Amino acid sequence: MNDLPDKSTDNDSDRDRPESNSVSIREMNIDDIAPIFHLGEQLFTSDLYPYLYRTWDEWEVIGMYNTDSEYCLVAEIDDQLAGFILGTIIIKASWKYGYITWLGISPNFQRRGIADRLVDKIVERMIEDNVRFMLVDTDPANTPAINFFTRKGFGNAREHVFLSLNLAKHEYYGRLINYERDKAERNRPRLRRRT
Ligand SMILES: CC(C)(COP(=O)(O)OP(=O)(O)OC[C@H]1O[C@@H](n2cnc3c(N)ncnc32)[C@H](O)[C@@H]1OP(=O)(O)O)[C@@H](O)C(=O)NCCC(=O)NCCS
Repeated sequence: MNDLPDKSTDNDSDRDRPESNSVSIREMNIDDIAPIFHLGEQLFTSDLYPYLYRTWDEWEVIGMYNTDSEYCLVAEIDDQLAGFILGTIIIKASWKYGYITWLGISPNFQRRGIADRLVDKIVERMIEDNVRFMLVDTDPANTPAINFFTRKGFGNAREHVFLSLNLAKHEYYGRLINYERDKAERNRPRLRRRT
């Protein structure tokens, strides 16, 4: 298992949080895929954060593990999954940006400094890989996350607007949907009637 060197023992936030001493941070492995996915399902719910809910699925976890395993970390307490962070690097011109794509802490272990430890670890790794700028985004209503990242020093927040369209209710696209449905209906092989 790839336990990471702990550079955080002299970190103020850790000193303030004695409960976080038993947390271990390590690289994600293949057995973590399903538990991480299910923890995300518990956290990114449609009522709280509809966009996070829509974009969270098992392929998100599998894909990031496949392409960015060095930036996929988990926190464990007594061999239990306490949280995870999934990140990637974006290269634009001469800049390397570290992007925190997903961060989730089990409700049983929140407010114990675990996200703090995970973010510090991923940033340490990214600095080693020449990242000098970090990015993160979340739902504007996600006060815990916004407070958390603000406390970590992130700022310059900009809102991004997501629009949606129910195609079935649209005048033109709705007709296309009906047309495709009728076409599929017409092409369906008919069962022979028994006489
Ligand atoms: C946001 C989240 C990752 C924070 O994890 P955490 O381990 O509880 O955070 P930490 O203990 O390291 O940091 C705590 C700080 O975060 C902020 N915070 C965390 N939960 C909060 C809450 N419910 N309300 C307000 N602020 C909160 C506060 O600044 C808090 O500092 P304080 O305890 O001194 O007030 C966690 O709440 C979570 O998993 N949320 C659901 C998933 C999510 O929104 N992920 C981020 C977007 S992908």
